[in-house]
Amino acid sequence: PIEVPKRIIDKLPELDVDDGTKKVTVLFGTQTGTAEGFAKAIAEEAKARYDKAKFRVVDMDDYAADDDEYEEKFKKETVIIFFLATYGDGEPTDNAARFYKWFTEGNEGGEESFKNLQYGVFGLGNRQYEHFNKVAKVVDDMLAEKGGKRLVPVGLGDDDQCIEDDFTAWKEELWPALDQLLRDGDDTTVATPYTASVLEYRVVIRDPLDATVDEKKWHNVNGHAVVDAQHPVRGNVAVRRELHTPASDRSCTHLEFDISGTGVVYETGDHVGVYCENLSETVEEAEKLLGLSPDTYFSIHTDDEDGKPLSGGSLPPPFPPCTLRTALTRYADVLSSPKKSALLALAAHASDPSEAERLRHLASPTGKDEYAEWVIASQRSLLEVMAEFPSAKPPIGIFFAAVAPRLQPRYYSISSSPKMAPSRIHVTCALVHDKMPTGRIHRGVCSTWMKNSAPLDKSQDCSWAPIFVRQSNFRLPADNKVPIIMIGPGTGLAPFRGFLQERLALKEEGAELGPSVLFFGCRNRQVDYIYEDELNQFVNGGALSELIVAFSREGPTKEYVQHKMMEKASDIWNMISQEGAYIYVCGDAKGMARDVHRTLHTILQEQGSLDSSKAESMVKNLQMNGRYLRDVW
Ligand code: 2AM
Repeated sequence: PIEVPKRIIDKLPELDVDDGTKKVTVLFGTQTGTAEGFAKAIAEEAKARYDKAKFRVVDMDDYAADDDEYEEKFKKETVIIFFLATYGDGEPTDNAARFYKWFTEGNEGGEESFKNLQYGVFGLGNRQYEHFNKVAKVVDDMLAEKGGKRLVPVGLGDDDQCIEDDFTAWKEELWPALDQLLRDGDDTTVATPYTASVLEYRVVIRDPLDATVDEKKWHNVNGHAVVDAQHPVRGNVAVRRELHTPASDRSCTHLEFDISGTGVVYETGDHVGVYCENLSETVEEAEKLLGLSPDTYFSIHTDDEDGKPLSGGSLPPPFPPCTLRTALTRYADVLSSPKKSALLALAAHASDPSEAERLRHLASPTGKDEYAEWVIASQRSLLEVMAEFPSAKPPIGIFFAAVAPRLQPRYYSISSSPKMAPSRIHVTCALVHDKMPTGRIHRGVCSTWMKNSAPLDKSQDCSWAPIFVRQSNFRLPADNKVPIIMIGPGTGLAPFRGFLQERLALKEEGAELGPSVLFFGCRNRQVDYIYEDELNQFVNGGALSELIVAFSREGPTKEYVQHKMMEKASDIWNMISQEGAYIYVCGDAKGMARDVHRTLHTILQEQGSLDSSKAESMVKNLQMNGRYLRDVW
């Protein structure tokens, strides 16, 4: 049994029927569903606005089977609206990766290849990151370069603030441009303002005795040919241990998922996606706020009794029948801040009119600043918000459709190599435990689950999670003799532990290895120097030539990995400029990876006696040639 919602692939309506309607394609690259939601909202709104236009919403991955088909399909388009999210190191989402690669590298159509296209691009990103909305910017620029006509300036949605507001503002610019295109010249009617209806599933309350799926048992083979986010397998927790010493006021978990018999394979450098569970106390709180019995056994549906899709069709894919307790445990994200649309859904079900009014105000344009302050800046969770509005008790079909987003899988850099651990996936996970502005202690859902999990070596009834592997391009050089420089403080060490396991295994097989340097950083040798013994064994075994550790809280001043890199500047320069070394960075994108990037730039500039722009283009070249790789979050 598979309990993770499967994506329903929309059948693509034909574009080239000529019945006088104007056709618009809305393409989305989404990871957590926000871009998809925006794409569908545009199409819904358009329906109310234009009589003679047809909008179809398409997942980027479903748009074309291969590069040739991309070219074919785009040729036929006249208007496309793109919704494109940017992740990590300026990367597209998984479902847009193939398109983005084709578009930026493979697309051989010349300068005029988009000359018949009018387009708009809305990006989803986070301003805290270096490559803010890179994917959207690149697509927007390149379309213009290749003759496309831009309908609106590229929208730069910022998830750090209120991305819904950015979307609304961008839409206001898009409509007039679309009006010109999609309305007949003599059409003088003013568009009726569109009010989004609250999304709702059809819910069937069932007899628990009808349960066809035993929720406790989950087979480890998923019955599908592929293992991916929609088709995970059961990963039993085989081993769990704490990596920090008792002196630490933080926690870092080493966890091993058993993948034997699951059909799952991985390569050194890949990521594992983990569907985790909410803590039981979180779930109980949600049950109380909803005022529903945890044992309610129900199913949710996106169609009506006659099998007709419910209006809009923008409902997230449903999950299988289960009890409310299970649904809240596995499928509901109740600790993130609620979106404005969630506040409106709550308002619609608040029995106290003053609560309903305040919720609507918070979601309205006039309540913008209050929402930014009271919800976003305070990082108020959905549960905290619901606790403030106790009369708002949405029914199940509304709660899971419009109030609580789906709990998303968390991704971790795998910290083992299949050469050492073919039947295990190792994870190195720092506990997220932060005090929020409201005083709430935010406990990271997955890291807390991992820390509390019961491993097989301690309990027969071990913990498990649905897991799957996501490929990455963070790979050792194909030639073992090429030197490597690895930079990974804290849990950024994870993939390098995998690299070094791999190299040790290769060495034992008799391979000749090039030199390798690891820059690791932590606070204090006695507290959070994770995997210290193993790292020393890598050195002794010849897998690692040099281990350099920066302790940030031992001396009077902070010592970080980039400071240690500066001390080794001339070695680094020689390895890169003379010996073709690869550089790998893993860890925090906002602070560490950005600082390390600057340091690398400085080293090349100083050691190579280059001016800043030459150093910059050297860094760019390394990146383009796949010699400077980053796995950052
Ligand atoms: P700190 O906590 O003492 O500031 C792993 O988290 C290590 O990375 C810690 O020693 C941490 O130091 C350090 N670190 C924090 N910010 C960093 C940055 N911008 N660059 C490099 N290392 C950093």
